[in-house]
Amino acid sequence: MLTVAYASLFYMATAVLVGGLAFRIWGYATTPAPLKIPTTPAPKTRGGVVLRLGREVVLFESLFKANKWIWLFGWLFHAALVVVLLRHLRYFTLPVWWWVGLIQPFGVYAGLAMVAGLVGLWARRALVSRIRYISAPSDHLMLALLVGIAVSGLMMKYVTHTDVVAVKSFVLGLLYFNWQPIPADPVLLVHLALVAALMIVFPFSKLLHAPGVFFSPTRNQIDNPRERRHLANWARELEASRS
Ligand code: HEM
Repeated sequence: MLTVAYASLFYMATAVLVGGLAFRIWGYATTPAPLKIPTTPAPKTRGGVVLRLGREVVLFESLFKANKWIWLFGWLFHAALVVVLLRHLRYFTLPVWWWVGLIQPFGVYAGLAMVAGLVGLWARRALVSRIRYISAPSDHLMLALLVGIAVSGLMMKYVTHTDVVAVKSFVLGLLYFNWQPIPADPVLLVHLALVAALMIVFPFSKLLHAPGVFFSPTRNQIDNPRERRHLANWARELEASRS
């Protein structure tokens, strides 16, 4: 019964996440950018734009220039999240890739770093009055979900161990449509329910900044308005229909 409930929940959550993200990304990709608005100083070549976006994604460059505290906690959380997610690949692959085995010990520290980053970001929303004023319930919800996932994950590591071999066979069973029983361990069930909730809200939430950064005209445009005339597709079509 529990297995059927969680298996159905994860198939549904995956469909919402994949379908929702595809729909959002389609929307971003087909929205015209009528103006040339790269934030200057901006790269003058396509290669330069790739580098600029790369620095933005890996180092959070513009956030670093804007606010050192948010950068510190934000970067810490995201970098730790990447390591934690890569560590989780061991539940999805058989045999486990060698480099996933290699990062296992770091994954646990990354879990702690993730919580530290989230607590810092949350403290800012609670303690800085002007940030508290502009914080919406969804800002708190996302932080609560992520803290809940990380804390329940760490609890399985440090407090009440779960049967990770059984967890793996449940996950592989989902992937290969050969369902295996889920361990009825409350902390694991909370961890997984929160993960499913995160997957479901993702396409409707501020977490869309992850794919969205690639579509930001202020970051992805080349600074070449004098060399090439910038024309959005709809404007090109309008000009063509008039001539
Ligand atoms: C279906 C997906 C997931 C499964 C099956 C899963 C399962 C688990 C298990 C069994 C543990 C305990 C590890 C141990 O005892 O060594 C754990 C830990 C943890 N999980 Fe997850 N988890 C999933 C998704 C996520 C996601 C999406 C996040 C982050 C947003 C996350 C964050 C963590 C953290 C921070 C820990 C503690 C540190 C660590 O052991 O790596 N998990 N997870």
